Amino acid sequence: MRLHGIDVSKYDESFLDKSIRKRIGETHCHSLEEYCSFVEQNKKEEKILLDSLSINYSEFCRNPLTFAVLERIVLPGMGRSREVLKCESSKVRKFGKFTECRQLGGIAPREAGREDKDCQQVATERHQLGGIGWRVAGRKDEDCQQVAGGPIRRGRKELRIWSAACAGGQEAYSLAILLEELKNGDSEKFNYRIFATDQDESRIGEARKGQYPVASMGGLTLKRVNQWFIRHGETYTAKPELKENIDFSVFDLFSENLSSPPGSIFGDFDLVICANLLFYYKNEYRKTILEKVSNALVAGGFLVVGEAERDILMNYGYREVFPQSGIFKN
Ligand SMILES: C[S@@+](CC[C@H](N)C(=O)[O-])C[C@H]1O[C@@H](n2cnc3c(N)ncnc32)[C@H](O)[C@@H]1O
Repeated sequence: MRLHGIDVSKYDESFLDKSIRKRIGETHCHSLEEYCSFVEQNKKEEKILLDSLSINYSEFCRNPLTFAVLERIVLPGMGRSREVLKCESSKVRKFGKFTECRQLGGIAPREAGREDKDCQQVATERHQLGGIGWRVAGRKDEDCQQVAGGPIRRGRKELRIWSAACAGGQEAYSLAILLEELKNGDSEKFNYRIFATDQDESRIGEARKGQYPVASMGGLTLKRVNQWFIRHGETYTAKPELKENIDFSVFDLFSENLSSPPGSIFGDFDLVICANLLFYYKNEYRKTILEKVSNALVAGGFLVVGEAERDILMNYGYREVFPQSGIFKN
């Protein structure tokens, strides 16, 4: 069954059943059959049903624990200054498919102030390897990407984040606020880019405007609201400096042609947040979405989901890096 071009047969059956029953009651239809023919002949009802299914409610810093861990642990770890060590080729030895470098592989950054022995992982691309300083045999030193304890990066100083079902943009703006504050307080500067997408074009339009009713700002402290938004009557608008690093676009996570938002060119995200949509879908489609967002992560990158979706990821073998936080690595 398709509504406005969206295949709703992917939705979880009990969720679909509950939503349709609610509409049957509200439209005073007497049976499922009667409601189905009503929907077929009535474009307005089709839109109402679709809206009730693609629940696009969002909030700033929606799950407080998740955002607290992002703010205090995950993002500072990602943005922190790195010291780059060079590998001495004489100390590189072959190890199966990989080359091990005791002095850390290739360009092997470590956190400033930490000792060499604290560096635990240097891997390239999607190889998740333990040990000290690994890189794929045959690859050049410059290809080594891992940062001890943090996601892998390729010598770049830009954090790349994907908010994969951003609804009205609250999630992306919340992350931008945390990153701006971190950037302003960090001795070494870093850049970041947030790619925020949703399948719903009208939500993306709202997100770009960044205008929110006063009553919806509850997830942010008053200090943050005053610092990052401008008030006009009963509406707050995100300041241009907050919008500057966010790229909003329409993107369907079931797209077969695209693996990540086209604007991001190559994906390769340090963190993907895909929160509060998995539970609407049947199992097989949850898996499709999870594969897509996981493949878009750099090795060691973080995947963030909603509070009610933690079990889904644990059942698929993902590891929650901080208990109850909804922040995972795969
Ligand atoms: C409940 S909102 C979640 C918003 C935000 N992530 C949060 O946690 O507050 C779910 C969003 O998922 C979007 N969505 C549902 N299916 C999608 C798909 N296949 N591709 C992209 N976005 C999708 C909906 O349009 C909606 O805006």
